Amino acid sequence: MSKQMSHLDNIPSTPGKFKMDKSPYIHNRLRWHSSLAKLTFWSFMFLGLILIFFFRSPSSNPLPQDPSRRSLRTYNWGGPAWEKRVRSSSRIRSRNGISVLVTGAAGFVGTHVSAALKRRGDGVLGLDNFNDYYDPSLKRARQALLERSGVFIVEGDINDSALLRKLFEVVAFTHVMHLAAQAGVRYAMENPGSYVHSNIAGFVNLLEVCKSANPQPAIVWASSSSVYGLNTKVPFSERDRTDQPASLYAATKKAGEEIAHTYNHIYGLSLTGLRFFTVYGPWGRPDMAYFFFTRDILKGKSISIFEAANHGTVARDFTYIDDIVKGCLAALDTAEKSTGSGGKKKGPAQLRVFNLGNTSPVPVSDLVSILERLLKVNAKRNIMKLPRNGDVQFTHANISLAQRELGYKPSTDLQTGLKKFVRWYLSYYSGGKKAAG
Ligand SMILES: NC(=O)c1ccc[n+]([C@@H]2O[C@H](COP(=O)([O-])OP(=O)(O)OC[C@H]3O[C@@H](n4cnc5c(N)ncnc54)[C@H](O)[C@@H]3O)[C@@H](O)[C@H]2O)c1
Ligand SMILES: *[C@@H]1O[C@H](CO)[C@@H](O)[C@H](O)[C@H]1NC(C)=O
Ligand SMILES: *[C@@H]1O[C@H](CO)[C@@H](O)[C@H](O)[C@H]1NC(C)=O
Repeated sequence: MSKQMSHLDNIPSTPGKFKMDKSPYIHNRLRWHSSLAKLTFWSFMFLGLILIFFFRSPSSNPLPQDPSRRSLRTYNWGGPAWEKRVRSSSRIRSRNGISVLVTGAAGFVGTHVSAALKRRGDGVLGLDNFNDYYDPSLKRARQALLERSGVFIVEGDINDSALLRKLFEVVAFTHVMHLAAQAGVRYAMENPGSYVHSNIAGFVNLLEVCKSANPQPAIVWASSSSVYGLNTKVPFSERDRTDQPASLYAATKKAGEEIAHTYNHIYGLSLTGLRFFTVYGPWGRPDMAYFFFTRDILKGKSISIFEAANHGTVARDFTYIDDIVKGCLAALDTAEKSTGSGGKKKGPAQLRVFNLGNTSPVPVSDLVSILERLLKVNAKRNIMKLPRNGDVQFTHANISLAQRELGYKPSTDLQTGLKKFVRWYLSYYSGGKKAAG
């Protein structure tokens, strides 16, 4: 890391040094010599810029690639064959069905939501940039799963406005299920730019294209329980304060909620934000504790369990993926139409925010005990103090609003849900597939 930094520091200064060293020679020469020197100087500047670009590229970067740099990558999209796949995937196959653009479709929640929509006959088109924040081969496996059920995932970035406009030109989506984001709390300290790129710039770009689309789609998108931040009043309800985020991730989700308010207010877009509480299950995310605890317990590696000050328990309101999917579908089904047209608001539109949790927080140490029983392996526990870098001590959802408005009623307890996760984990990572990470 420090080596890389020193490279970066050296390159821009080289052309400057060159000029200083040579300037006494240049001073009394003929004019064409001095212009030659200028030309040389600017050539070196240019070379320097190219070098900076290459040294910043992922080959010399041990960390996962920054998705904001990844936006420089050009994706292959367009052409008659591509448009045909886009249309066919988006085609509604049931009466009263909807056509949904699902962003982040190769992600954990996106895959499950896309599959559920397709099963009931809705048109579904996925969009994902397949970034390598975690093992992209897992995203590819999810893509293969969706492909078998007839869902096409377009490869591209939500911050690419030309691509999004093209998609709305080809298909008049009735709904957008927006799940693409840079997730994770601690990674924000390594790569803050990726949160700004996907959760702020990408979200604004998506809303810009949606507000100009005719007809405007209704949008349901994933916020997060992390917006409650340092709030200590439990259970968390939608009316509680959310102005004390404890991580950049949380701050970008909170910003998203304010941005949603603006686009609803100015352009009449129908917007529903869903605050997910620690979602887990088959095809889950390798950067989440239940997932890497499973991996490390099986490997015989010790696992770090956080505790708060004075041996306080750290607890999470773990929510099983099937319950989240039901909440997402109910949010889509109850979403009213956007009211704007021609990029202009014509009347007030729906604006909602819901908690989607399980209402039953479980201490992380209990999670580990359940995993030990399911895996039939004892964990090597390493108790550590909860670092103050983004994680909060507990989350607990009040879901009465979602219950009333969406008929949301989570029905899977942690024991049952983890059993399904472990069954998936063991079958996915046997059969020739190497362990994650
Ligand atoms: N899983 C949870 O516990 C949880 C909790 C709260 C909120 N959320 C939110 O729910 C949503 C889905 O989460 P998940 O757990 O499925 O995460 P995930 O990382 O598995 O899925 C996100 C997907 O979006 C894609 N993506 C990211 N940036 C993109 C971009 N700029 N353009 C196109 N695609 C992009 C990624 O490649 C990934 O496949 C996210 O918005 C996340 O912040 C998740
Ligand atoms: C998003 O796209 C816009 C328009 O193409 C570009 O100017 C901006 O730099 C991008 N933002 C990020 C953070 O990648
Ligand atoms: C849960 O939220 C509702 C409002 O949506 C409120 O009426 C109720 O009192 C809250 N319950 C608790 C236990 O805080």
